[in-house]
Amino acid sequence: MRMHKKARLEERIEACGKLVKVADLTDKNMKRAALTPEYLPFNEIFGNSNPVRLEVGCGKGKFVCELAAKNPHINFVAVEKISNVLIEALERAMAEGLKNIYFLNCAAEVLLKYFPASSVEVVYLNFSNPLPKEGYKKQRLTNPRFLEIYRGLLTAGGKIIQKTDDEAFFDYSLESYAASGFEIAEVTRGYLCGEDDVETEHERKFKEQGKLIYRAVAVAAATR
Ligand SMILES: C[S@@+](CC[C@H](N)C(=O)[O-])C[C@H]1O[C@@H](n2cnc3c(N)ncnc32)[C@H](O)[C@@H]1O
Repeated sequence: MRMHKKARLEERIEACGKLVKVADLTDKNMKRAALTPEYLPFNEIFGNSNPVRLEVGCGKGKFVCELAAKNPHINFVAVEKISNVLIEALERAMAEGLKNIYFLNCAAEVLLKYFPASSVEVVYLNFSNPLPKEGYKKQRLTNPRFLEIYRGLLTAGGKIIQKTDDEAFFDYSLESYAASGFEIAEVTRGYLCGEDDVETEHERKFKEQGKLIYRAVAVAAATR
C-alpha cells in the first residue's frame, strides 16, 4: 500500500536538523557516491567517544529510541531511506530529548560514505524486508553485497544482530553470513525478547499474531 506524503515533511525534518543528516545523493551511482567520504563526526555529534551502534532500516524508530534510552553510554545511529517514515523516529527522539541518537536519511548502499572503517560495534537488522522474489535478492539487506558494506564499517569482532519473522529469509541470511566469512555465533528460532533487548514495531505486531521470531548473531572476522 502506498503511503501518503506527510504534511510539511521537509519543514518537519528541518526542525529536527540537529538530529539528522539527509544524504545529498546528486550522484545516482551509489557505488561511486560511496567512494567520496563524508564521515559523520561522531565525537562532535555526541560530545563523547562512546561506542557506536547502527540500525539499518529503523522505520518509525521504536527500537532505537527505546534502546538508546536504556543505554545512555552507547551512541546509536539509525538509517532509514524513506523520509516519510523517518520523520516519526526523528520527532519521537526529539520529544524524548535523547542525546545518544542520530539519524541518517540514506540508503544502506552508501553507508561507507558516512562511516569510517572500524567505527561501529553492532549493526542491527530488524525485520528487514524479506523480498522473496528471486529478482529482488540483491536488495535484501543480508545479501553479500550489503554484508561487505557492514564488514567495512564494523570493528574486528563486531556483530550483526538480526531479527525477522520470515523463516525463508532467515535461512537465506544464515547462508549469506557463512558465505561472506561471518561467524554465526547464535541462532534462535522462537526468540523471546528479554530485559536487555527491545521489541521493534514489527516484532510486537508479529508476536501479537502468534508468529515465531527468528534471531541470529553473526560476527565479523576482518575489516576493510
Ligand atoms: C519492514 S520495515 C522494519 C522497520 C523496523 N526495523 C521494525 O522492525 O519495526 C523495513 C524498513 O527498512 C527500510 N529499508 C529497506 N531497505 C533499505 C535500504 N536499502 N536502506 C535503508 N533503509 C531501508 C524500509 O524503508 C523500512 O522502513
